[in-house]
Amino acid sequence: MSTPTNLHPHDGTMTAEDRERTLGQKGCVVWLTGLSGSGKSTVARALEARLASLGVACYVLDGDGLRTGLNAGLGFSDADRRENVRRAAEVAAILRDAGLVAIVSLISPHASERDRARELVGADRFVEVFLDAPLAACEARDPKGLYAKARAGEIPSFTGVSAPYEAPSRPDVVLRSAEEGVEACVGRLLATLRERGLAPGDEGAADARGGRA
Ligand code: ADX
Repeated sequence: MSTPTNLHPHDGTMTAEDRERTLGQKGCVVWLTGLSGSGKSTVARALEARLASLGVACYVLDGDGLRTGLNAGLGFSDADRRENVRRAAEVAAILRDAGLVAIVSLISPHASERDRARELVGADRFVEVFLDAPLAACEARDPKGLYAKARAGEIPSFTGVSAPYEAPSRPDVVLRSAEEGVEACVGRLLATLRERGLAPGDEGAADARGGRA
């Protein structure tokens, strides 16, 4: 994508650190990648609820949701998926810059696009999470009935069936979502965020209930 010339972005005087101080939290991106039906949206929503209970402001960017608005008009060709992921990464980087926890839930099948997202956001604030559920398990669940349609030839280029998925080679977290329960998955994500200083401990929950001083 070409960048127009004669642009002079205005940085202002507030930094990302200033915004984090105002909110009393760290901005970061939790990037959930995996096949359709691997549980990304479920884990994303459960993590959002858990973080909210700790007083952490977050926002979920979900593939199906983005594709009805910002990314309406993009299909499932290789190029369109790359553009879908690129735009989501840009929005996630803005949310991180605003001091929020952005939880991104996208198949994001290309390793190179996920790497670009990590670079854009900053590796220290990017947590790549691989929902490592076998294709057979996702297909057996088939929550939206899409695998059945894909096998019947009604959906072309369906990830895992007729379009590729590149599993992460070095994800920050691997969730075996076909075997682990949602709460266990969320617990492990929270532990990782805490280890990296990106989420508060349980005392955050008390602060959130009582309001901050
Ligand atoms: S991505 O590949 O570009 O990252 P994204 O996560 O936004 O995909 O959207 C995936 C969702 O779109 C799936 O969960 C499914 O509901 C729907 N979908 C429709 N057609 C396809 C397809 N050909 N391949 C994968 N998902 C599809």
